[in-house]
Amino acid sequence: MSEVDYADMQGLVRFGYGQMTSALYALVRVKNSDAAKRWLRSAPVTTAVAQKPPPKTAMNVAFSAPGLRALGVPESIIAGFSHEFWAGMSQESRARQLGDVGQNAPPNWTWGSYGHEPHALVMFFAEPDQFDSFVQNSRDQNWSNAFEEIISLGTSNLDGDEPFGFADGISQPQIDWEQRLERPTTQSEYTNVVALGEFLLGYRNEYGKITDRPLLDADAATAGLLNAEDMPAKKDLARNGTYLVMRQLEQDVRGFWKFLHEEAAGNLADAAQLGAKMVGRTRAGDPLVSIQAQPIPGTDPRTVTQNQFTYASDPAGARCPFGAHVRRTNPRNSDFPEHRPSTLRKLIIMLGFGPKGFYDDLTSSVRFHRILRRGREYGSELLPEHALQPGPPNEPARGLHFICLNANISRQFEFLQNAWIANTKFSGVSGESDPLLGNRESIPGCPVTGNFRIPGDGALGRRISGLPQFVTVRGGAYFFLPSLRALRYFAGAA
Ligand code: HEM
Repeated sequence: MSEVDYADMQGLVRFGYGQMTSALYALVRVKNSDAAKRWLRSAPVTTAVAQKPPPKTAMNVAFSAPGLRALGVPESIIAGFSHEFWAGMSQESRARQLGDVGQNAPPNWTWGSYGHEPHALVMFFAEPDQFDSFVQNSRDQNWSNAFEEIISLGTSNLDGDEPFGFADGISQPQIDWEQRLERPTTQSEYTNVVALGEFLLGYRNEYGKITDRPLLDADAATAGLLNAEDMPAKKDLARNGTYLVMRQLEQDVRGFWKFLHEEAAGNLADAAQLGAKMVGRTRAGDPLVSIQAQPIPGTDPRTVTQNQFTYASDPAGARCPFGAHVRRTNPRNSDFPEHRPSTLRKLIIMLGFGPKGFYDDLTSSVRFHRILRRGREYGSELLPEHALQPGPPNEPARGLHFICLNANISRQFEFLQNAWIANTKFSGVSGESDPLLGNRESIPGCPVTGNFRIPGDGALGRRISGLPQFVTVRGGAYFFLPSLRALRYFAGAA
């Protein structure tokens, strides 16, 4: 097993560039492929090598399938990438699967609708005093000759909170860079350490397999690429690269707090508690269940008080509802259900006499569905107490430029989005989808999707109904974040 080469990897795979609080996402289409290749050859793309002191500016670049086509990459090579990547996020059937219907439907998007996909995403990160000059210098004459900018998405620094006012960026998987995990194997306890191949192509994933990707014949053009680990005669175009999912998610911050405030009969502290039930963490980022004494492998020692927990201590969802955003997106389970019922209990449940809502064995093991989140917020801060006032006319939007990295879009991002976030039947609850992200559209067999059940400690619990849509999709696309070697290959300088 070969060691990873950080110098061949774009920095975003390893770092969130948190110290560079200014960022811009430029979504472009190639108007001249020669000029685009020239720009790429000189672009200062930042690698994943750790630097001391850390750099003050960074740039990373990703391409969509139409973007690779525009650079002249042959169809036979593009076909070697995953189906989701080359079919695209805004394709009609895929949009339906992702819950992008109604207001979220791609024809309503500001960017990225079918046939209008961006070719490339160029990400600029910098410390505030360096930002303007860095972005200006990067958009040089070659840039202007090469690209037509569809949209440039600015970001904001809300000091670690997302626009609803909850701490974000707390839980991330820990990547097994040294490839010490033994795979395949069954996992009896939840662990936060995840196989490298879940986040980087060309390495073994949680199944102990290497995800399919384009493997090329060795010739002069591919000489600069690394050999495939599993087929050494072939050149691995995707090794040290990964897929990048981007979605612009606009958040109705006023609508969110107004709804919570009304549900809490006008008490802001109770509204914040209800919001915490929906998120699955308090506004400060504390979990709703107790921290366990037993260490969880891969928990960052600096975040033990926020991350050393599973939901095993809360099997009925009394503290953290099953439908809460973080419980849906990471149920923190292992390959086995936490509470395996005895044969007698199974029989009681099968005969319909068991408790309703105790279905923890229906949730797929999370280690196959982790993502690395790298997004940033946009729009100004709006505190809950101010969010209750009516907004000014033409108020600038707020939201999240959601970005995640994963080696298998369908098994990771799409599974999360479809089976866990958008699904109206999840972990024993029905008639509800993710309380933050759900589109509340009726679907066949499920006319009501705007509920949110809080089982609570008592027998009755509470059911909130009529949740409005708080988040609207404004754009999105799938990209490939190539290695530095693959970038040189695309730029024709292999
Ligand atoms: C506007 C949209 C969104 C908002 C406001 C939001 C908010 C949050 C917040 C406040 C947290 C808890 C803090 C943390 O653990 O970092 C969180 C965690 C998380 N979110 Fe989101 N999120 C959004 C969209 C999404 C989407 C689209 C996905 C995936 C498709 C996603 C996946 C996750 C995951 C995996 C976690 C970590 C759960 C854990 O490991 O415990 N989120 N989100």
